[in-house]
Amino acid sequence: MEQNIDQVGAAALREIDSAATPDDVQEANVKYLGRKGLLTQLLRAVAQLSPEARPAAGRRANQVKQQIETACRSALARLEADEGVERIDVSLPGRRHALGSLHPLTQITYRICDIFTRMGFEVVEGPEVESDYYNFEALNIPKNHPARDMQDTFYVSEEIVLRTHTSPTQPRVMEKRQPPVRIIAPGKVYRCDSDITHTPMFHQVEGLLVDENVSFADLKGTLTSFVHQMFDPQTRLRFRPSFFPFTEPSAEVDILCVICRGEGCRVCKQTGWLEILGSGMVHPAVLENVGYDTARVTGFAFGMGVERIAMLKYGIDDIRKNFENDVRYLKQF
Ligand code: DAH
Repeated sequence: MEQNIDQVGAAALREIDSAATPDDVQEANVKYLGRKGLLTQLLRAVAQLSPEARPAAGRRANQVKQQIETACRSALARLEADEGVERIDVSLPGRRHALGSLHPLTQITYRICDIFTRMGFEVVEGPEVESDYYNFEALNIPKNHPARDMQDTFYVSEEIVLRTHTSPTQPRVMEKRQPPVRIIAPGKVYRCDSDITHTPMFHQVEGLLVDENVSFADLKGTLTSFVHQMFDPQTRLRFRPSFFPFTEPSAEVDILCVICRGEGCRVCKQTGWLEILGSGMVHPAVLENVGYDTARVTGFAFGMGVERIAMLKYGIDDIRKNFENDVRYLKQF
C-alpha cells in the first residue's frame, strides 16, 4: 500500500513540475486530489485496511497529499508570476503622449505680434461682424467703390457685413483714444472667394501709428525692421507705389522671392518679387472722420495676410492646407 502511495505521489510531483501553464497545474490537482482523484481513491482504500496497517498507510497518504498541495501552490505562483512578466515587459520603450502644438497660423500671428510689441505697439482686437460704416465708410471707401461689390463682401444685412479686412479696427481705436496711437490688430476676415490662394475666411494683422511728425520714413523703417525680423536680416525688400482708399500715398511691400531669389519663377510669376503687405500714410479723410486734427498729427498704417506670410516662410503651396487639419501637415511646424 505505502509503495503504491509513493508511486502515485512521485508521478503527481513530476506532472506538476513539468506543468507549462496554470491550467496544467489545475488539471494535475484534479487528477490526483479531485473527488475521483488517484490519491483520493488510495485514501479511501486506506480506510478499508486492517487496524494494524491503517495508521502507517494513513500517515503516508496524508504526507503525500500535503506534498502535492504544496507543489501545486508553488507551481501556480511561479507560472502566474511568469505570465505577469509577459504582460508588463519593463524593457519596452514607454508610450509617448502625443502633444498638441500651436497651429502654424497661430504661430505666425504670435510672431508678428511679438515683433511689433517689442517696437511699442499694443495688440487690440475688433469684431468680425462689422458695420458697413467701420468696414468701408470710415475708411474713405465710398458707396460705389468696387471693393463693396457683392462678389467680395459677405453681407449680413444692408448695413452689417463680415469684415473684409482688419482695417476697421483703425477708426474703432482712434474714435476712443487721442494720439499717440500705436496698435496692431490680428484677426479673421472674410471674402467671397475660393481657390488655391484664396479661402473665404483668412487672417490679417493690421497696424496703425498716429502721432505728431510721423513720416513715410517712419513707415519704411518700421516695416523694413519687421521684414528683417520676420524673415531674414538679409531679406531684400522694395516699396512699390499702390492705391488704397484709406491711405495716401500708398505702397505695397515686396520681398525678393524666397524660392528663386529674384531669378523669376512660377511662385513669383517671373517677377522675382513677392507682395507681402499693403501700407501707406493714413488718409486725412480717415483722421478727420474720427475727429483728429490733421494739422497736428499724421500716421501710417499697414495690413498683411497671415496665410501669405506663413506660405512664404514655410514654402506652403496651397492655402487650403491650413484649414484641413491634417495632423501630418500640422505636425511639421
Ligand atoms: N486692408 C487692406 C486689404 O485688406 C490692406 C491694407 C492696405 C491695410 C494698406 C492698411 C493699409 O492698413 O494701409 O487689402
